Amino acid sequence: MAASIAVTKERRADETRVAVTPEAVKKLVSAGFALVVESGAGAAASFPDSDYQAAGATIAKSAADALKAADIVLKVRGLDGEEIAALKPGALVIGLFNPHQDRALLDALAKQGATAFAMEFVPRITRAQVMDALSSQANLAGYRAVIEAAETYGRALPMMMTAAGTVAAAKVFIMGVGVAGLQAIATARRLGAVVTATDVRPATKEQVESLGAKFLAVEDEEFKNAQTAGGYAKEMSAEYQAKQAALISEHIKKQDIVITTALIPGRPAPKLVSAEQVASMKPGSVIVDLAIEQGGNVAGAKIGEIADVGGVKIAGVPNLPGRIAADASNLYARNLTAFVGLLVDKEGVLAPDFEDEILKAALVVQGGQIVHPALKTA
Ligand code: NAI
Repeated sequence: MAASIAVTKERRADETRVAVTPEAVKKLVSAGFALVVESGAGAAASFPDSDYQAAGATIAKSAADALKAADIVLKVRGLDGEEIAALKPGALVIGLFNPHQDRALLDALAKQGATAFAMEFVPRITRAQVMDALSSQANLAGYRAVIEAAETYGRALPMMMTAAGTVAAAKVFIMGVGVAGLQAIATARRLGAVVTATDVRPATKEQVESLGAKFLAVEDEEFKNAQTAGGYAKEMSAEYQAKQAALISEHIKKQDIVITTALIPGRPAPKLVSAEQVASMKPGSVIVDLAIEQGGNVAGAKIGEIADVGGVKIAGVPNLPGRIAADASNLYARNLTAFVGLLVDKEGVLAPDFEDEILKAALVVQGGQIVHPALKTA
């Protein structure tokens, strides 16, 4: 029998995204899946129940109704207690589970006998690119961070020559040039800002320059080796961080907008902007801390607030992809649709191959236990 998939409303208060959109329903139904969607699941992303129905899904009145017979459960974030209790034994649950931070969720899923895959752990190999939810969401977060900054900034981003005089272009500094940072550079450039950027991975220098921005970093021996085989940043030494801070201090006081996106997988976000550096900026300057949910890159950033520190506004906006919910949901739903394809055979019957490189890497809970090597406690 073809596998059934349930999609429920996200439980986190600020989560506007939905795991599966009507477009994805259509694809999954034509691949043979039966889709059940909790009523209202897509409402905050502007996808009404009627669109899901038209695409071939059944609407369930409650999360429990949607979940009770589902073989596969697709989520943006974690499940709450009620959802977990409603899972049928052996259900496959997939989402962005924040596995390094939210152990309670994984424990609860293990206790219920679920099998869970964390989309954060999908490896960045070519075959899995279409499933790379970190990238699809970070790209939109980078875009949205610039929009947030532009809204908070009391001046214009592009240079404008008018009869009443010239408006200067804003100086925008992007710290951390992964997927989010690159999109932030591109967006700020499109808006006409003068853009500079920094990162600890040497590969980013060329990427920054190819987007028409200027690269700035301490380019010593440690910098040359700062990228792991997986393409991620290493945690830098205290000595490097001190040199980096001195270079940044000189630069940051001349900037109008700073957007920080620096992350190290499985670690708290590196502290990149100190209170002194914030104090050195002009009143009216804006900082957007995209790493706020991982502890933040900026001293004084507060989650969910625009902190005013001596006239400098520090925006700690959580869930930036949620502020562009329809596009974020569509891209995430495509990531999930591709992932789900690995769980079934050609006839659409559930047959996950746990030896598959991608499934193996993303598997976090199985057989009542947390099984991912990066999550096992010593
Ligand atoms: P991320 O979200 O883990 O980190 C964001 C950025 O912060 C990274 O560029 C990192 O180098 C930087 N950073 C860390 N510590 C820093 C510090 N002290 N100062 C300044 N910057 C710091 O990174 P993301 O966006 O996940 O990308 C990581 C890598 O993976 C990149 O090389 C990216 O191109 C690569 N990638 C590869 C893919 C593939 O091959 N399928 C897909 C997506 C990304």
